[in-house]
Amino acid sequence: MKILGISGSTRKDDVSGTSKLVKTVLENTDCSYELVSLRGKKIAGCIACLGCVKDNICKVQDDLVDLRAKIVEADAYVIGAPNFYSAMNATTHALLERWYQFRHQEGDTLWGKLGVAVGVGGTSGQYPADEIEKLFLYNFVETVAKVAGQGAASCFSCGYGETCKVGVPTLLYGEGVKITPDMIPDVTKQSVVIESAAAAGKLLGQRLRNGHDRMAVTQKMQQQLMSMFKESA
Ligand SMILES: Cc1cc2nc3c(=O)[nH]c(=O)nc-3n(C[C@H](O)[C@H](O)[C@H](O)COP(=O)(O)O)c2cc1C
Repeated sequence: MKILGISGSTRKDDVSGTSKLVKTVLENTDCSYELVSLRGKKIAGCIACLGCVKDNICKVQDDLVDLRAKIVEADAYVIGAPNFYSAMNATTHALLERWYQFRHQEGDTLWGKLGVAVGVGGTSGQYPADEIEKLFLYNFVETVAKVAGQGAASCFSCGYGETCKVGVPTLLYGEGVKITPDMIPDVTKQSVVIESAAAAGKLLGQRLRNGHDRMAVTQKMQQQLMSMFKESA
């Protein structure tokens, strides 16, 4: 069983809460895994050209071309994204939009696979985790767990954090805030978050090892997607 981890943060791994949480989930699966960072990768959003409808292969030539083979080969995914404006960041959204290529006809390349959704925000990572779950569903990928943590917003280190009125330090602590190292959020110090990432990894590993039935998962996800469409129609 092979798991593909993708960190959608564009920041360096040593400061990215998303990268750290995705790695924690992967390390706890007891499966072989690969962690890919989207930092520095050029991946455009879907342009709806329909070039993929016949063969389920996107024709846009960018860094997703090489990543596609890893996505196809993996049995499960751990995908994480930062919270940008109460949504997942555009880089991760672009990647998941392009998973449209896998959906056509008997697009069973991804159907019935499993996933963990990870989100990290300056306040909370719940929005991106929820959105990743939704985009997983469109490919009949079951989200077995979601993990959300609080990361270090760049405003703590940009140099203007103590006076900027729209910066996270002022929004969290009020005007006149004095930034001290202990107030800068770090997912690795949030024991509840790290425990939930470890539990998510263990659950994913168990689900993969204990007779993972892709057909049954596919049917369950199809029902969920149909319900979602009926509710929103
Ligand atoms: C353009 C931009 C928009 C952001 N918007 C939000 C937001 O709406 N809510 C939030 O909680 N954090 C927001 N943040 C903060 C990031 O989510 C935070 O820095 C997070 O730690 C980034 O993930 P990373 O550590 O994996 O890079 C924003 C950051 C940027 C650069």
